[in-house]
Amino acid sequence: MHKVIEPKILYFGTPVVLISTLNEDGSANLAPMSSAWWLNQSCMLGMSRRSKTVQNLIREKECVLNLPSADLVSAVDRLALLTGVNPVPESKMQMGYSYESDKFGTAKLTPEPSDLVKAPRVAECPIQLEATLTQVHNFSEPSLLASIEVAITRVHIDEKLIMMGENNYIDPDKWNPLIMNFCEFYGLSGKLHPSRLAPVFGPASRNKGSRALS
Ligand SMILES: Cc1cc2nc3c(=O)[nH]c(=O)nc-3n(C[C@H](O)[C@H](O)[C@H](O)COP(=O)(O)O)c2cc1C
Repeated sequence: MHKVIEPKILYFGTPVVLISTLNEDGSANLAPMSSAWWLNQSCMLGMSRRSKTVQNLIREKECVLNLPSADLVSAVDRLALLTGVNPVPESKMQMGYSYESDKFGTAKLTPEPSDLVKAPRVAECPIQLEATLTQVHNFSEPSLLASIEVAITRVHIDEKLIMMGENNYIDPDKWNPLIMNFCEFYGLSGKLHPSRLAPVFGPASRNKGSRALS
């Protein structure tokens, strides 16, 4: 039996991304977000233009998408309700947000230099993706939201996550992303069923030219 409801949010469960960007003064900002999805070597990020992250991204045209594993949940939660925007916008003030200039220090995370972009990587995150801005799309409702398309230019992976005997495949059995599910933190419960897509995109497909969707 289904019921019609009007949920306040539709956050059905997506991996958390910690986005690092550079502020005007050259210092780093770091913000958690989870409205992200991936296609080929690109990522679409859904974020408010009121955030320091979006302002930095539009100005600097680059960022690092750091993917925390589930065990980094406390560090991610320490960044909640913080913004790099000073003064804090009224709407955020009402939600209890405060300004923080040292997000890395507050989260107890370590910045490390990137290869191709100026924003630092988060050393503790097992997956770090350097990225450049491709396009900013307007989101019709509400208008301050933007979908920001970025191209991944370099992929850094903790070697413990790499599939045994392979160079360029991440082992999904070893990667445990932090999931935001209706504003609560979850991990994955483990593989449920063999996937018919896995042989198409996994190591077995290497010489079949099936790595990109079109
Ligand atoms: C786990 C988590 C996920 C979040 N996901 C998003 C998101 O997808 N989009 C967004 O605009 N804000 C999201 N937020 C809120 C931002 O982190 C918040 O707006 C923050 O102030 C941005 O920081 P900044 O202003 O320094 O960029 C999320 C917060 C948390 C803790």
